[in-house]
Amino acid sequence: MDLTLNIWRQKGPDDKGHIEKYPVSGVSPDMSFLEMMDMLNDRIIREGGDPVAFDHDCREGICGMCSMFINGQAHGPNRGVTTCQLHMRSFKDGDDITIEPWRAAAFPVVKDLTVNRSAFDRIIQSGGYVSVNTSGETLDANAIPVPKPQADEAFSAATCIGCGACVASCKNASAMLFVSAKVSQFALLPQGQPERALRVKRMVEQMDEEGFGNCTNTGACSVECPKGIDLTNIARMNRDFLKSSVDS
Ligand code: SF4
Ligand code: FES
Repeated sequence: MDLTLNIWRQKGPDDKGHIEKYPVSGVSPDMSFLEMMDMLNDRIIREGGDPVAFDHDCREGICGMCSMFINGQAHGPNRGVTTCQLHMRSFKDGDDITIEPWRAAAFPVVKDLTVNRSAFDRIIQSGGYVSVNTSGETLDANAIPVPKPQADEAFSAATCIGCGACVASCKNASAMLFVSAKVSQFALLPQGQPERALRVKRMVEQMDEEGFGNCTNTGACSVECPKGIDLTNIARMNRDFLKSSVDS
């Protein structure tokens, strides 16, 4: 396949940035999108240029690193996959492909397609954990019965990989889907109850502090989420947050 890539190039956070055109040929339909980017970077390096910076790690849909906005869609045209799981057979010979970084004030561009998502880490640090007694008299987690439907729902929320596609797809750059998934994975389980009220309060406060926008129920986040995180998590978080504000 022969393609034309229009890639966002930005030297650093203070650089204005611009789109640069790269014709690529000999792309196999069986390549992953990131392998195609590797191929381009090999060529740029051979020609003595500056390779395109992009984030990646697991390359199997687990780590959430491969943040790319492809032809105006987070993680490209397919649903339920990350950029590393996207294959070039999803495109046609001769296609023009535009590749941009996540756009959100809370995710500043580091270089080219790489953005700083440490705002998510700080939200997790503010409350995305359970305190466990490790004195030696710890109760085995399996000794606490959890109804199957509840466990399934908690596991579904826990599949969020923190990729940030929800923020990038939202016109308000809201992080509600991410935060609500992280709140829900604990709120649905008995182990998450002791800190439930404090957790939601702290995580929502940190989310606001980081500069993410508010939710206006557009739903783009859930549609573009590679893990299909459901909007009901946002409703649960809002209920918990309201309750924690009234009780405190
Ligand atoms: S909710 Fe979905 S889109 Fe948002 S960070 Fe989690 S996995 Fe990514
Ligand atoms: S590189 Fe880990 S999810 Fe894509």
